[in-house]
Amino acid sequence: MNYKISLLENKISQSLKELGFKETSVTINPSNRPELGDYQYNGIMPLAKKNNLNPVEIANKLIPLLKAYPELKDASVAGPGFINLTFSNEFLIDFINESNSNIDINYHQDINKTIFLDYGGPNVAKVLHVGHLRSANIGEALKRLCQAIGCKTISDVHLGDWGRPMGMVILEIKTRHPELPYFKEDYNGEPTNFNITNDDLLELYPIATTKAKENESIMEEARKINYELQNKHKGYYALWQKIVEVSVNEVKKIYQDLNVSFDLWEGESDNFEYMNEMFEYLYSKNIIEESDGAKVIHVKNDTDKKEMPPLILVKSNKAVSYEATDLAAIWERTHNFKLDEIWYMTDKRQELHFTQVFRAASKSQMIKPETKLIFNGFGTMNGPEGKPFKTRDGGVMPLANLLDMVTEECEKRLTPTITENRTNIARTIAIGAIKYADLLPYRTTDYNFDLEKFTDLNGKTGTYLLYSTIRMKSLLNKAQENNLNPQKMTIINENERKIILTMLDLKRIIKRSYDNYSLNEICEYLYKITNLYNNFYAENHIITEENKELQTSWLTLTKVIYDNNCKLLNILGINIPEKM
Ligand code: ARG
Repeated sequence: MNYKISLLENKISQSLKELGFKETSVTINPSNRPELGDYQYNGIMPLAKKNNLNPVEIANKLIPLLKAYPELKDASVAGPGFINLTFSNEFLIDFINESNSNIDINYHQDINKTIFLDYGGPNVAKVLHVGHLRSANIGEALKRLCQAIGCKTISDVHLGDWGRPMGMVILEIKTRHPELPYFKEDYNGEPTNFNITNDDLLELYPIATTKAKENESIMEEARKINYELQNKHKGYYALWQKIVEVSVNEVKKIYQDLNVSFDLWEGESDNFEYMNEMFEYLYSKNIIEESDGAKVIHVKNDTDKKEMPPLILVKSNKAVSYEATDLAAIWERTHNFKLDEIWYMTDKRQELHFTQVFRAASKSQMIKPETKLIFNGFGTMNGPEGKPFKTRDGGVMPLANLLDMVTEECEKRLTPTITENRTNIARTIAIGAIKYADLLPYRTTDYNFDLEKFTDLNGKTGTYLLYSTIRMKSLLNKAQENNLNPQKMTIINENERKIILTMLDLKRIIKRSYDNYSLNEICEYLYKITNLYNNFYAENHIITEENKELQTSWLTLTKVIYDNNCKLLNILGINIPEKM
């Protein structure tokens, strides 16, 4: 809750004490009936019931005390004992002036956690496709939200860099280039002049995997290579490092475009380093069981309504599972960092996997009981027809192609007078449009990609928000050129009240977004406050206003809304271009 509101709540609680009610915790909320007041307090009825008194009588005693508060212009009783509160202008003006000197007061919460965020999850040697977009956007925005409220974060891209597909790719390279030093018995780590590009990898990967799937002996060979790779076979390991490097460089470029960054660029291979240690621990806890040649942990609870298969650590063919890797990741992370929570941002279809992993982690007591593991699954972005998003020739849509397509559309719509840097500006707008559209639905909701709708300058879009925010900025620039400074708000009209009341509500929205691990309310809020501001902007001629005090007040309000829009867009991971 907003700190100013909290102070007011404490004050009301104090007044109730004066009336003889001990320790009443007071919560006030934005009014359902704005014509009666800005906020309302509904706590009188339960208080009366508890004390066997008449609510209207209590209210009538409280009202004169409330009316004496400088924070309130008015207080009144409605119905059976609702109390309507109208803020004084001074209260609202102070709030805007305080926000003007530090916008962050609207964001901080008393939650001082260290949160580890696992998102991105690209697979090495595979093209980054539209399915990876949401993990990157949602993960990045949640990380920024955590930081804005005052939490510490550690982010990890968690590369899919280990496992059978790697064996298949190496086998395909071996088939094409058997002469490479990597495949010699006595290879000893010496540098080679073998070069491979990301395009080579993208061509290789589907061929390699199809061959293995269609031919059991190729599959067997790939398994063997993978097994040797995981045991650090010198040649395979050196080649693998090269593949990872090439692929990761490419992935980094796209993440950079998307304003997505990570503290750690670890992958499943890094977790593997902890596998033996972890297995030893699990054995010591006696929870690993044999089942049809596999090693499993039973994770079913008595209360489970749905089927809950055992978590398979090692398959009957000796391959270490995806589940085991994620358990080793938890082992690694909780041993290396002091963490309150680990959050995972992946497709909601991975829910069972994470439920099993989390249960195994707590059953084995490898995490402290207070460490929380949280699965933030998300819905799918489908193609325009509501079916999986494919390219024209039917393949999965690479993320890079999607970004290019939206950039092209945004460039078409860019003001013709902008002659320099058009493609870069269009790219920034496109990323903003994509991100906003992606974060607007509730996290678990599926949605369809819609180029027209997402880039519409007059819609509920990133484009609209960017355009409006740039306009605020240019108003402030123009004011500066005329030596007008947004220093202080002193006057407030009815028109501005709505904007300020919405601003006052921000802290609650921020908290709710954090509690729901979803950015949808922030997206809605940004749209709402931008609309309110735009109405105000259209009704007033700020630059030519002759009443200087009023003009300064308006500019101050503009500055606060501008700072706040920048901050909210930044949380969403959206950059603002200079012009558009
Ligand atoms: N690489 C995985 C995939 O593409 C996602 C990784 C998610 N994170 C994790 N800790 N398992 O499906």
